[in-house]
Amino acid sequence: MSRPLRRHLISIDDLGFEEMHRIVQRGADFAAGRLEDARPLHDAVVGILFRRTSTRTRTAFSAGTLRLGGRLISYGPGDLQENTGEAVEDTAAVLSRMLDVLVARTAGSEAELRAFAAQRQMAVINAMSAAEHPTQALADLTTLLRRFGRIDGLRVLYAGEGNNTASALTLALSRYPGTELHLRTPSGYGVEQRYLDRAAEYAAGSGALVAQRHDMADLPEVDVVYTTRWQTTGTTKADPEWRRDFEPFQVDKAVMDAGAGALFMHDLPAHRGDETTAEVLEGPASIAFEQAENKYHSARAVLEWCVGGGPAGDGDE
Ligand code: CP
Repeated sequence: MSRPLRRHLISIDDLGFEEMHRIVQRGADFAAGRLEDARPLHDAVVGILFRRTSTRTRTAFSAGTLRLGGRLISYGPGDLQENTGEAVEDTAAVLSRMLDVLVARTAGSEAELRAFAAQRQMAVINAMSAAEHPTQALADLTTLLRRFGRIDGLRVLYAGEGNNTASALTLALSRYPGTELHLRTPSGYGVEQRYLDRAAEYAAGSGALVAQRHDMADLPEVDVVYTTRWQTTGTTKADPEWRRDFEPFQVDKAVMDAGAGALFMHDLPAHRGDETTAEVLEGPASIAFEQAENKYHSARAVLEWCVGGGPAGDGDE
């Protein structure tokens, strides 16, 4: 069976800057209702494989597929024969002969996703791995673009665990001219050095600033304060006393006041009383639920790009 070539999204680092920003802009176009007639997935079949729980990402890609004219096959954590020992390479060889796109939230590293992506007939989308959550970053950039009309020069304070959302945000934001990303993470729970190193390379070209500290003193004035849940989906912490290390990083009213008019973002799900308070999450500065809606708009932009759709139709690879 012959099908057009497909594009994979495993890491933000896989995307050229123009390509990444085009998806971000396209997400904003979908959100504005300018692309309601777009059906780039007409006749396409999309597999949705989630080995971890999800409310937003799974629904965004499922609804996005249906809205773009595609059809769905949904796999839960126990459904594929990988569970009984079939090799991931064999699984990929079979699925790629039948599906156009596979949206996958794996249980661990990106290795399984890279194995799925070792072919070009079926696009593979990372719907969150242990290390990185690239579709979250794209939705977050679309949220910034919609709110501020630009991304260049925006200043973000990220407080909390240096998890997969933080890694993707670090890789994405550092590529925009003049942006600032102030990471405040508990010691031992920071963004991994390899992401900071990559972001430093991007920042050398873009003039961005990425700085990580392990305290909440001397908070800078920012445009956005961002946090995520302390217990990242699918992870556990070895230290039973881990909360002691996290408590100083809660985003409460005092942190927001230090931000001097900053908006509040949260990738959700939220645990009120942990990483933030109900007062902040439900307060006037919070755009967390608008951000969640943007996951749907951004998912359509990602799906469109993966099947070679969009304004240029050919990408910049
Ligand atoms: N933010 C996010 O990825 O949400 P879900 O885990 O519900 O998909």
